[in-house]
Amino acid sequence: MAVTQSVVPEESWPSSLPYLSPLKNLPLPVRTGTQDRGRKPPSDLFSDYEDDEDLHKSSKYCKTSCFPTTKIGVNTWKLGKEIPVGEPSAFGIVFEACRDQNCDYVLKCMSKTTKHQIKNEVKMMNLCAAAGMCMPATDSWICDDKKGGAIIMPLLDITLKTKLKTTPDGSKQWDMIKEALLLIRDLHINVGIRHGDSHAGNFMFTKRGELMFIDMGQSKMLSTQDVDARFKDISRDYNKLRTSLMHLMQRGKISSKIYDFLNEKISDVLHQIKTENNSTISSLNNLEGSAIGDITSTPYSDL
Ligand SMILES: Nc1ncnc2c1ncn2[C@@H]1O[C@H](COP(=O)(O)OP(=O)(O)OP(=O)(O)O)[C@@H](O)[C@H]1O
Ligand SMILES: [Mg+2]
Repeated sequence: MAVTQSVVPEESWPSSLPYLSPLKNLPLPVRTGTQDRGRKPPSDLFSDYEDDEDLHKSSKYCKTSCFPTTKIGVNTWKLGKEIPVGEPSAFGIVFEACRDQNCDYVLKCMSKTTKHQIKNEVKMMNLCAAAGMCMPATDSWICDDKKGGAIIMPLLDITLKTKLKTTPDGSKQWDMIKEALLLIRDLHINVGIRHGDSHAGNFMFTKRGELMFIDMGQSKMLSTQDVDARFKDISRDYNKLRTSLMHLMQRGKISSKIYDFLNEKISDVLHQIKTENNSTISSLNNLEGSAIGDITSTPYSDL
């Protein structure tokens, strides 16, 4: 479970992002979100609510303290099954959620999370969603005991990590990784925030195959003027992705050829940002934008 770190106070957020202008006309991938709504609620909704001593702590917490009466049952949301996640989390849990017979939503419930952290995650999701790179928060609230919160968002299909593991074709794998690299760039340049926890399990595909960020709990606004800080931020996001892909490579899920190519591309971009004339934020943006163009090549082009 991502736990938000130092969160920028809302009042200090810039009302506009002047440093975005040099690249604001870059073509963004068209992301329309899930359109095929209307899954029916499962018949066993709530069936596992009572007397289930096996539910772990977070699950119990989320099914009890985290449901203000204004949000449950017929009023708004019904909770479906817990969604199995890659890594079990000490603080949070994700459920299917339904409203008006439509179950194309999930509820992410977090214990040990402050109101400020929940608000920040929602804000970051919505900023990212405005650029088509995340699903927006459909609803959110603070749990009854004020020690956690819940965020409802549209259901997505599969994580990048799982998709890579289940796609044997290296060329297709590279296409997905490339998409993730471009998303990181766009989030930094076009939206002006960093993800903060951009491992391969924190990207998900929609049913239509569009890649999006999830889990914006550690996201932050980027400094508008500090070039070094911005360089560190984008390096961190790339490195987080790189490390998670290294683990997949070590488990034989992606080839070393892809991993080496990825390393080369990331190093090229970071080197170019670091060494060329980056004394102003706008030149940093231009460098980043042009350098990352190389990423669109493929390790398979010579085959
Ligand atoms: N919108 C969604 N649609 C479908 N499944 C989702 C959605 N959001 C999250 N999930 C599932 O729930 C898991 C956990 O969600 P999320 O990454 O937001 O929480 P987390 O516990 O903070 O994760 P982390 O381990 O990265 O800190 C995801 O890996 C994914 O499997
Ligand atoms: Mg996650």
